[in-house]
Amino acid sequence: MCAAVYVLSTVTGYVLTSALLLKCPNLLHRRKRETFRSRHISHRGGAGENLENTMAAFKHAVDLGTDMLELDCHMTKDEQVVVSHDGNLQRACGINANISDVPYAELPPYLCKLGVTFQRECFCEGGEDKRMPLLRDVFDAFPHTPVNIDIKVNNDTLIKKVSELVVKYDREHLTVWGNASNQIVKKCYKENPQIPVLFSFPRVLQLLGLFYTGLLPFFPLKEQFLEIPMPSIITKLRDPDRLTRSHRIIAWLADTLLMRKALFDHLTARGIQVYIWVLNDDEDFQRAFDLGATGVMTDFPTRLKDFMDRNGISKPE
Ligand SMILES: *[C@@H]1O[C@H](CO)[C@@H](O)[C@H](O)[C@H]1NC(C)=O
Ligand SMILES: *[C@@H]1O[C@H](CO)[C@@H](O)[C@H](O)[C@H]1NC(C)=O
Ligand SMILES: *[C@@H]1O[C@H](CO)[C@@H](O)[C@H](O)[C@H]1NC(C)=O
Repeated sequence: MCAAVYVLSTVTGYVLTSALLLKCPNLLHRRKRETFRSRHISHRGGAGENLENTMAAFKHAVDLGTDMLELDCHMTKDEQVVVSHDGNLQRACGINANISDVPYAELPPYLCKLGVTFQRECFCEGGEDKRMPLLRDVFDAFPHTPVNIDIKVNNDTLIKKVSELVVKYDREHLTVWGNASNQIVKKCYKENPQIPVLFSFPRVLQLLGLFYTGLLPFFPLKEQFLEIPMPSIITKLRDPDRLTRSHRIIAWLADTLLMRKALFDHLTARGIQVYIWVLNDDEDFQRAFDLGATGVMTDFPTRLKDFMDRNGISKPE
């Protein structure tokens, strides 16, 4: 009897403490200092409105007032940090070669038309600008715009060079970097802990485990950004005839587990921003902001801006 009361009161104490700290995390953790906040994020510079990852795309997005540019990095044969999503040039340039085997000066231009990965049956027709820029070109052109850097290769030299550029351009307070791979994120953090990192995929799973067991409020977190997909968008991306029942169930389950307002509110109260990708229509923009996401990544910066203007969603303070 006594033991039962003891266990019950201990469990109740744990649940109550966990619930209290979930709501008020700053009782236990000092709020992380956010050197910038982003609501409007242009994915690959806005891959639906300009050729992805080009200076033309970045300029268009910045002129529109985007809060952040999202881009991807690789390294060329002559060890220059180049902005490109793919490591192989087949999809985007029509040439089967790896960026790591080609010197920067010899990289081919983009094709005139590129598929938009996160919008079904959509191609983007580019303008004049078909050049893959260097990361340094982006830093030169937009010294005040926050940039989200996806490190696409697990290569120590690449990580070191990106860090050196960020430091040289005095942008540690305007940068977040990482990758789905935990190995890469660990290396980034080790290389330069002053640059904020995002949660890798294994760390997202850990985060969910901690959240659903009530342990999350007790754990310190080194990451400053949670960047996750909205799993439900898969039903819009795939051909409905080719979406099997098990696909739908997995998407539903992932969506239900991941899209939690209580989780997002807890993280944002700790100074960890939540960005959701890659959303391209009003319905999904609305859902993300209703869930308490800090920011939305989109291929269509103009659409997102119009949505925010119409709905009175202000720029972050
Ligand atoms: C590009 O790199 C991958 C992996 O490193 C390799 O398997 C592939 O053969 C390379 N492609 C070319 C065209 O060299
Ligand atoms: C990193 O990339 C450079 C340039 O492509 C290459 O020479 C080097 O071998 C790579 N390092 C590793 C560890 O893959
Ligand atoms: C992460 O890095 C791997 C190489 O280790 C790459 O294939 C992948 O595209 C990257 N993913 C993201 C989301 O950056």
